Amino acid sequence: MDLTTKFDGLVLKNPLMPAAGPLVGDAEKMLWLNHVAGCGAIVAKTISVEMAHIPHPCIIGDNNAIYNCELWTEYSKDKWINEFLPEYVAKKGDCPLIISVGYTKEDMEILIPELDKFADAFEVSCHYVGTDREKLAEVVKTIRKHTKKPFYMKISPHIPDPAGFARVIKENGANGVVAINSLGPSMVIDVENRTMAANNDKGFVWMSGPVIKPLALATVYTIKQAEPSLTVIGVGGVANAKDVIEFLLAGASAVGMLSAPMLRGKELYKKVLDDLPKELEKYGFKSVEDVMKTGLKKVTTYEAELPRVKEEKCTHCGMCARNCPYFAIDMNEKKIPEFNSDKCFRCGLCASKCPNKAIEFKH
Ligand SMILES: Cc1cc2nc3c(=O)[nH]c(=O)nc-3n(C[C@H](O)[C@H](O)[C@H](O)COP(=O)(O)O)c2cc1C
Repeated sequence: MDLTTKFDGLVLKNPLMPAAGPLVGDAEKMLWLNHVAGCGAIVAKTISVEMAHIPHPCIIGDNNAIYNCELWTEYSKDKWINEFLPEYVAKKGDCPLIISVGYTKEDMEILIPELDKFADAFEVSCHYVGTDREKLAEVVKTIRKHTKKPFYMKISPHIPDPAGFARVIKENGANGVVAINSLGPSMVIDVENRTMAANNDKGFVWMSGPVIKPLALATVYTIKQAEPSLTVIGVGGVANAKDVIEFLLAGASAVGMLSAPMLRGKELYKKVLDDLPKELEKYGFKSVEDVMKTGLKKVTTYEAELPRVKEEKCTHCGMCARNCPYFAIDMNEKKIPEFNSDKCFRCGLCASKCPNKAIEFKH
């Protein structure tokens, strides 16, 4: 199975890369993700002119989400330029290096010329400047002035109007978008201690992991539909090979993952890559490029039929009846769900939630 993806002159042997964060915080970690995990490209942790002063604790995890108040790299740009990047680049092989940088036009004037010789491409965090379109345009123009390499502006979910964001960055010379950064501000509370569980100076944390995947997919889709010539790197909630395929279908050319391996073990990178060929085959795709060419169709209609129970699959658990928001399902004497056609709203919740796929819903 051909997992190659190509964009803006970069060739990745597979579409999976780490997203910027602690897992790519120095040369040793990046080398592990490249040579042991087998990622198709490596993104380095965001470097800025000043090193970050990070509060502790700064990372909280639950089943499906990570909450963090980590900032950009805790190391100086000089440590990256003199130690981590030379060491990494010497051993990186043919795996492209995308260096993440932040944040202002003034930061870019300094960072891009100094980092350019190490980078195959740049990713630019707009976390603190992206809501101001004029500042955003200035950042993009400044980067283009200092490099011929491809660069991707990373959109944070609190930045409004992703399509407008994409238009501005395209008009000013960026190659594409990384979508999305962590979501927030959000809050985690420790009731026992009457405190926040972790917090930045304002009391908040940023949320990531599987819980944000639908928002990330929608942002990727919105940007690709609005500006098809831009490359989109999809990030947010990826946890398995099927998620990778979903992002490619939504319009991404490559996919970043960070929180899921922090919740479920760092071997997840290798597992996703091991599973990807089988998963592509299972869904009838011939290659990663084949998925990208496919595109997505909409399914919702205004003439859906009444759901139908496949009795042989029903385990009589009654979940459908308990969950139905329209009070339209009753369990009959054989403990099989029966649908009241007057009350049933054809919403589809019962079919999507049935643990045994015993409800068929034609639309
Ligand atoms: C602990 C932590 C640190 C992060 N640091 C950065 C960073 O330095 N720069 C950046 O652009 N994004 C950073 N992110 C955001 C991730 O790169 C990614 O966009 C986000 O977590 C969504 O992907 P995920 O759900 O796979 O984690 C960080 C996320 C986490 C959880």
